[in-house]
Amino acid sequence: MNEGLRSVLLVDDEVRNLELIAAVLEHQGFQPTLAHTPKAAMELLRTLRFDAVVTDVVFDGFSEGAAVLAAARELQPRAVVVLMTGYPQIEGAVSAIKAGAHDYIQKPVDPILLSAFLHRALKEREIERDNLSFADLIEILSAMVANTIERVDPYTAGHGSRTRKYCRYLAEELGLERARTERLELAAIAHDYGKIYLDDLGFLTKNGPLTPEEFAAVQKHPLLGARKLGHHEQLAEVRRFVAEHHEKFDGTGYPKKLKGDEIAIESRILCVVEVFDSLATKRSYKDIWPLEKVQNFFAEQRAKAFDPLALDPFLKLLERHGERWIRQPALDLQAAGLKVEG
Ligand SMILES: [Fe+2]
Repeated sequence: MNEGLRSVLLVDDEVRNLELIAAVLEHQGFQPTLAHTPKAAMELLRTLRFDAVVTDVVFDGFSEGAAVLAAARELQPRAVVVLMTGYPQIEGAVSAIKAGAHDYIQKPVDPILLSAFLHRALKEREIERDNLSFADLIEILSAMVANTIERVDPYTAGHGSRTRKYCRYLAEELGLERARTERLELAAIAHDYGKIYLDDLGFLTKNGPLTPEEFAAVQKHPLLGARKLGHHEQLAEVRRFVAEHHEKFDGTGYPKKLKGDEIAIESRILCVVEVFDSLATKRSYKDIWPLEKVQNFFAEQRAKAFDPLALDPFLKLLERHGERWIRQPALDLQAAGLKVEG
């Protein structure tokens, strides 16, 4: 078996479907093994090692996918398990995840999406490795975010890496020590990662304001993202900053309505920087704001949404770099082959 390839066990009784998925996964750097029955899958799980198991839920009218999931959990606890389901009710998915599935994907399965999904899930697993350096963590988190947030909302291409860069500038201005700056940079890359785990992704690119229900759903993304960063002690504070990136200085943010120094200073920095880059970016519901409008907005929200301790040095940075930084999202979108109007 080729050590460089990620081995995937694909389980489905729809043979042609499975062969198509296998062909695409192979092309995307995986080594697929096919099983057409749960029994065959369980035999393979006993004899070969897999990085991931992707299984249908219903075989011939019976929900035997649960048995494949249980066998994978028992025999290969390190493997990522993804369920393909034609019945994507939340209860089914939630109970599958409680039973140890990494996640579920709706049928008909788009093989390219499944491939991106597996790459990401395997990266999430790497977070739990011991002795990861800052460079390792940057690589892992960047790979997780690549082709995920951008896939969900193309207008956000490059948002994470710009946010990281501006956070580093601001941390330097504030004299934050190196280890703290590094943790802030990691949070900046991953801050919106939780969006891909929202139940309905459609409204992220909705043209117009969100309904109260949609907004309530969006508000789950900071905690979802924090949870997906695993349990590694090294990332404890990064999880906190991700969870807090929409909290506001005056307590009007979400999800916990924290205020003042209940919010980590790193999260307050991330909040300022992240809002700046969002305002500089064309979204489905808004145009790019000119620099002056951004500066006026920040001045008006000083000591309200934003902590002056983080905001004031950022406004100084904008005097120096603002004209360039405000154009950067559009340049990054062009580089990614996407057109920007307005
Ligand atoms: Fe966010």
